[in-house]
Amino acid sequence: MFEKICDNEIYKILYNGEWINSRNNKTIEILSPVDNSLVGKIQALTKEEVDEIIKNSKESQKAWGNLPISERASILHKAAAIIEENADELSQILQLEIAKDIESSQSEIKRTADFIRFTADEGKHMQGETILSDNFPGFKRDRVSVVYRVPVGVVLAISPFNYPINLSASKIAPALIAGNSVILKPPTQGAISALYLAETFNKAGLPKGILNTITGKSSEIGDYLITHKDINFINFTGSTEVGKHIAEIAGMVPMLMELGGKDAAIVLEDADLNEAAKLIVSGAYNYSGQRCTAVKRVLALEAVADKLIQNMTQEITKLKVGAPKEGAKITPLINSAAADFVQELIDDAINKGAKLIIGNKREGNLIYPTLFDYVTTAMRLAWEEPFGPILPVIRVQNVDEAIAIANKSQYGLQASVFTQNIKEAFYVADKLEVGTVHINNKTERGPDHFPFLGVKASGLGTQGIRYSIEAMSRPKVVVLNIN
Ligand code: G3H
Repeated sequence: MFEKICDNEIYKILYNGEWINSRNNKTIEILSPVDNSLVGKIQALTKEEVDEIIKNSKESQKAWGNLPISERASILHKAAAIIEENADELSQILQLEIAKDIESSQSEIKRTADFIRFTADEGKHMQGETILSDNFPGFKRDRVSVVYRVPVGVVLAISPFNYPINLSASKIAPALIAGNSVILKPPTQGAISALYLAETFNKAGLPKGILNTITGKSSEIGDYLITHKDINFINFTGSTEVGKHIAEIAGMVPMLMELGGKDAAIVLEDADLNEAAKLIVSGAYNYSGQRCTAVKRVLALEAVADKLIQNMTQEITKLKVGAPKEGAKITPLINSAAADFVQELIDDAINKGAKLIIGNKREGNLIYPTLFDYVTTAMRLAWEEPFGPILPVIRVQNVDEAIAIANKSQYGLQASVFTQNIKEAFYVADKLEVGTVHINNKTERGPDHFPFLGVKASGLGTQGIRYSIEAMSRPKVVVLNIN
């Protein structure tokens, strides 16, 4: 099924419906974080090639935007079916290229097929409205505004390494159903997985040029691509640092951005501590903590902290550490720089007096799940996003102290509150400066039709299937004068 995308370990790019090589014959090696073996090589495109691709995407979009939504939807349904038919192969490439554990890889693939199908159906229900002029003071009923949605044009989708298939599809599918053409710029590590995804859309019968891919060195083509005059929308998931840079240079281009987080789990005195411990551990350590929505700090009321930590430690000891193919849950981090950064945060916490409960063991990029108690606000771990399997517990005296520390973060993605008292839960939820608060659950993005957004340094705009379709389309207003 995927034979066209690769020749002798060299992965091509999708351009105008064909898989082709860059003319400059330059490639980038993708090594597996699991064992450093070569996964493949990807094309390093030039600025001239970027120009050609954007031109092709722009020209192709018009016909696609005019195609009935039901026809666009049926192509998306076919892509979802192809993904499911090839689930094993897609899951294996995730395990190899980004060291994702087996269960998370399989669930990424299934979720992606479900996402695309739901998006296709949601698109069919997008409707406009008519508005009469006399609703506004001073106007007679002599005009009707007919409002419907049209595509924005060429969408640039920039996806991250941690969900190269799902977070590419969650940009591509809503953009396509809205009638846009898409240029996918996948992460370098994760690019091969994303190219497999691109082929599923291609194979499903997407017309030529409606999905093109660009791979290459961000240092050479990144800013050029982002500032190109024919990019009409940027949909980005990645770090806050890169997100801010994009926002600074892109000018007046609308954007959706999903950035970093420091999601807090606030555990109150009446919480079910068994349940809270299980959920927090799964929220913090899934895919070794390499998720923007991972639980990244626990703010525990002093009265329950000991018991909570005891329960969490029991859960952590159950996590198998190793390679995805061994069935491990904690797998090597994406590269050695990521592991070095996590180690820095661990060392800083130890030097400043945090109590190590479990972990602080490292083999190459593999960091064992690490838990700290008595983390204070003077430590980097209280504020920085590790993107690794490490969790600080900060003890607090009361709920307002927990809220204050939670809100002091530069990030505002999500938070959790664990309590049996619904009034207290809403009190906390209302005060937290984040996009979403989960009551008695871990922080997470899904289900994917819920709105998903970050405030402060965590994002821009709102995702979620309907919200993403709306973001990547705009109202078109035609006013009929009836007198
Ligand atoms: O890493 C960012 C993702 O949007 C997180 O998604 O909560 O489903 O793992 P998730």
